[in-house]
Amino acid sequence: MIDVTEKIPEKVILADPRLRQMIDPILEQNKDLPGATMVVLNEIQRTVGFVSTPIQEYVANRLGVPVSVVHGVVSFYSFFTTKPRGKHTVKFCLGTACYVGGTPQLIEKAKQIIGIEPGETTPDGNITLELCRCVGACSQAPVIVIDEEIHGRVRPNKFPQIVRPILETKKE
Ligand code: FES
Repeated sequence: MIDVTEKIPEKVILADPRLRQMIDPILEQNKDLPGATMVVLNEIQRTVGFVSTPIQEYVANRLGVPVSVVHGVVSFYSFFTTKPRGKHTVKFCLGTACYVGGTPQLIEKAKQIIGIEPGETTPDGNITLELCRCVGACSQAPVIVIDEEIHGRVRPNKFPQIVRPILETKKE
């Protein structure tokens, strides 16, 4: 629940000048548009690749909205990330059909062969694992999404074969 009485943060400064160089023009171009918060955050996610907590505070300050409003948008839409994503993303659907159909077992398998948990990125920056809501392919449950491509009826014993192409790009 958003607290509309929350104060707008004062004078938030982004320490990294490269980030400011990317974000300031986005704020300048969009700050007066209706729905500026969503537009600005979208553009930052696209350009910078993530919307960290300091960036959220900076945007809130510059747009004159409470941090909770910005945080609410970032945490609601799975499109946003607070940390940089890896080169490839593997998403596990947590919708009911997929969950019941075996998503937890797929996540276990992923942990074994990729070595990370959902929400993490491999140390070489190659793969990020994420959880997502229903992607509308429930009849093919359980579903995983690799770089926007949906794979249905994935069984744990088939998982290594499905992710092999993105594991192999590591060696490029
Ligand atoms: S529940 Fe996974 S696609 Fe709908």
